[in-house]
Amino acid sequence: MQTFAPIREKLNPNIAAKKIFSLIKPEMALVEAEFERQAGSNIQVINYLGDYLRASGGKRIRPALLLLSNYAAGGAASSENVVRLATVMEMLHTATLVHDDIIDNADTRRSRASVNARFGNQSAVLIGDWLYMSAFETSLKERSLEILDILTRLTRKMTEGELIQLTTLGKSAILETEYFDILERKTAYLFSACCEIGAILGNAPNDWQIALRNFGMNLGTAFQLADDLLDFTAEEEVLGKASGADLLEGKLTLPLILLVKKEPPIKAELERIIHDGDYRSYSRQRLLEKLETRGLLEETRQMAYSFANRAIKNLELLPKSEYRSALEEIPNYMIERNS
Ligand code: IPE
Ligand code: IPE
Ligand code: MG
Ligand code: MG
Repeated sequence: MQTFAPIREKLNPNIAAKKIFSLIKPEMALVEAEFERQAGSNIQVINYLGDYLRASGGKRIRPALLLLSNYAAGGAASSENVVRLATVMEMLHTATLVHDDIIDNADTRRSRASVNARFGNQSAVLIGDWLYMSAFETSLKERSLEILDILTRLTRKMTEGELIQLTTLGKSAILETEYFDILERKTAYLFSACCEIGAILGNAPNDWQIALRNFGMNLGTAFQLADDLLDFTAEEEVLGKASGADLLEGKLTLPLILLVKKEPPIKAELERIIHDGDYRSYSRQRLLEKLETRGLLEETRQMAYSFANRAIKNLELLPKSEYRSALEEIPNYMIERNS
């Protein structure tokens, strides 16, 4: 099995998260208040669904990234417009989760019933759309075509990612290049946009904007690799959403793509699991042991760390500050997190 050498001392993920978020505590409180305002409506049903979503929590990584990037690029992240855009990013993220759960037929999200499970697909589609449009409406207050350009492109890319992923569902032989293409679209672009918009609002010079955009891209890639690993390794109660679900949804993520490459006959077993929609024919534990023995979870972690290291390197251009240090801590926290 490959050994893995972190480039910096490993922090307990919960302590790391506390440290990172403590730097922007008042600003994050402003984001919560703004989210509450934006998700509110005088239409009762929207108010109810909006509140259900907002109150379910979540890690709030995306607004935190926008705020920290803004500070690291010399901005004043507590100002109204920065807080507003940070909120927009969380609203867009929430909308994608609502739609993603319909697509994946997921019952649980953030330790409670998903919107589709609780209120049905029809309501979930519509509240997802409503959130998307409210996010755009809010973003327009900035009167910035540059930002609107980033947001529309990224929303298109996310939709493309989900659509391309649909075409790969149930396929037991997907290429690594296809996997990374989907991953970038459905997750990494949003991370990248958070960091880039933070820099733009901080009036950062062009090369800092590019550095933060690239940081977000590499970070987002590491983040989704970690999410895909957690689907194999995490307990549902800790994760707050179903685990072992990707394969049942017909989705082969990197560890299994690598396994099929090393051991083609396993394809038949995987196809059977996908067809049955459960692990009766081949237990989850057995599959996990196979991945462990072949070192494929470790290899995926290594891959996540290599993107994390690239992300940290992207920050070298920025002046040293406590905000840059916090951004530097994020990639490793994301890989070590357990939810
Ligand atoms: C989940 O994102 C969707 C992915 C891109 C894997 P998060 O893990 O950030 O979800 P919340 O917001 O904390 O619930
Ligand atoms: C996440 O993909 C990407 C999104 C755009 C929401 P997943 O399908 O892996 O996300 P989870 O695991 O349901 O959160
Ligand atoms: Mg999903
Ligand atoms: Mg997932």
